[in-house]
Amino acid sequence: MTKRKAVTKAVIPAAGLGTRFLPATKAMPKEMLPVVDRPAIQYVVEEAVRSGLTDLLMITGRNKRALEDHFDREPGLERALQLKGDTARLAEVEYASQLGPIHYVRQGEAKGLGHAVLCAKRHVGDEPFAVLLGDDLIDEADTLLATMMEVQQETGGSVIALMEVEPAAISAYGCGDITAIEGKDFVRVNSLVEKPAASVAPSNLAVIGRYVLHPAVFGVLENTAPGRGNEIQLTDALQTLAGGEGEGSGVYGVVFKGRRYDTGDRLSYLKAVITLASERVEFGEDLKTWLKGFVN
Ligand code: UTP
Repeated sequence: MTKRKAVTKAVIPAAGLGTRFLPATKAMPKEMLPVVDRPAIQYVVEEAVRSGLTDLLMITGRNKRALEDHFDREPGLERALQLKGDTARLAEVEYASQLGPIHYVRQGEAKGLGHAVLCAKRHVGDEPFAVLLGDDLIDEADTLLATMMEVQQETGGSVIALMEVEPAAISAYGCGDITAIEGKDFVRVNSLVEKPAASVAPSNLAVIGRYVLHPAVFGVLENTAPGRGNEIQLTDALQTLAGGEGEGSGVYGVVFKGRRYDTGDRLSYLKAVITLASERVEFGEDLKTWLKGFVN
């Protein structure tokens, strides 16, 4: 058997319109919304780095400057903090610019997640690669992406992350029809449906924002017509790969049981801020005490 190419590249789509968060996202990408004191996208970049991915590509859209600036040096600010002797904040500011290098490619128009991934084709080339949605946070303690990379190496196909949701909530997600594989802790994905009505959904397993994809997905995306919402859907391309045969076909799922937040959704965003803030040593106890009183 030929040795499989390792996964070293991360593609981070951050070019969506963020309409659910308007007007906050009128002049700023939703990925820059702060979760406690870091923008959401920084958690995602940190996860990619922690998972061993060394080549990071961000897909940006309108208002991309804030994203690029955040991960770049800011000499004026660094000098000011140095003069003040604020070494802790200086370290935080410097840290964000040391996560890279990050490459950027522009998605001229927000034509859907599938189209955003297709924008990475030249950079990725003929290797399997990870996709981390820039507004989707996975708890730091979890090694979901590393597990997915192992499954990709074992199967040679594409791997998605699935999470159980309340049956009524499935219409907000891509949904997987799956079969268990004996002796394995991952599943085979037979088919995928984008945002099905609860009454016709094949399961309550929702597709969440982590993928490890075979590069065959690019060829499929090029031939995928706009689907739901007139957007090129990654789910539609994965559906083709799930039903296909030969090199690069086959889709597998890792069922995630940890904590995850969609920061592009207002309620989920608020939960992320409160949960992560309550775990911070500097104000967690104060916040919890205040929250108890507030709820009462
Ligand atoms: P979403 O569907 O959550 O993003 O995409 P959206 O379209 O910005 O959301 P709403 O519905 O308008 O509020 C998931 C991820 O894919 C990126 C988004 O930036 C987000 O990180 N995305 C989506 C793109 O990069 N390009 C697109 O055309 C669509």
